[in-house]
Amino acid sequence: MVSLSVNLNKIALIRNSRGGNTPDVLTAARAAESFGANGITLHPRPDQRHATYKDVENLKQIIKTELNVEGYPSREFMDIVCNVKPHQVTLVPDPPDALTSNAGWNTIEHGAMLTEIVAELKSHGIRTSIFMDTDLSLYESAASTGTDRIELYTEAYARLYPESPEKAVQPYKDAAARAHALGLGVNAGHDLNSLNLRYFATEVPYLMEVSIGHALVSEALYLGLEKTIHLYLAQLK
Ligand code: PXP
Repeated sequence: MVSLSVNLNKIALIRNSRGGNTPDVLTAARAAESFGANGITLHPRPDQRHATYKDVENLKQIIKTELNVEGYPSREFMDIVCNVKPHQVTLVPDPPDALTSNAGWNTIEHGAMLTEIVAELKSHGIRTSIFMDTDLSLYESAASTGTDRIELYTEAYARLYPESPEKAVQPYKDAAARAHALGLGVNAGHDLNSLNLRYFATEVPYLMEVSIGHALVSEALYLGLEKTIHLYLAQLK
């Protein structure tokens, strides 16, 4: 079964809009785990406008499943994750002011830097994943960085899915097969939701983990977190 890692950035965003600690990211993480989530994801941005570096530290103390921390590998980010040692770090090439992640790595242009960063993370016992588009010409150099996994950037899939599911998923099937052939594990995320997830998880081979935040937390406003997590887990069976 594909693992579901619940991204709690939106919980942190609501909390930050008022100051104080409501809703509490740690309570949400404990609840998500108790409802069956296989992991928790946080993506602290450099301005810490939603998840903060303190959230990352605090979550690591209480997590019973797996903590996945996403972000651009600035020196500050690297010092924090190498100290906290989450189970997995997903490297994302987003600039500091990006609203959300909007591209995968160019692993040819940034290969040397990624190789160094991956080696540093692995020296701390942290599993690594790098965020990737489906451009197959970048996959060999992705594998050369030494990363354990890639995370497929699924925004393009989500956008095209309502119009043409087959067309939307094909590049991801090819990319996952290529990644697997190169010895890489395959994660996926961005804009996955309760309507498009089942088809993606059924069609894309070798999928190990999806990380989902925006749609899942939004749906939890109507259904509650427990029912929503069960709904997403059911799509992954
Ligand atoms: N993966 C990465 C690298 C992301 O930046 C995000 C958004 O923080 C996600 C997955 C999850 O995307 P969504 O919030 O659309 O589910």
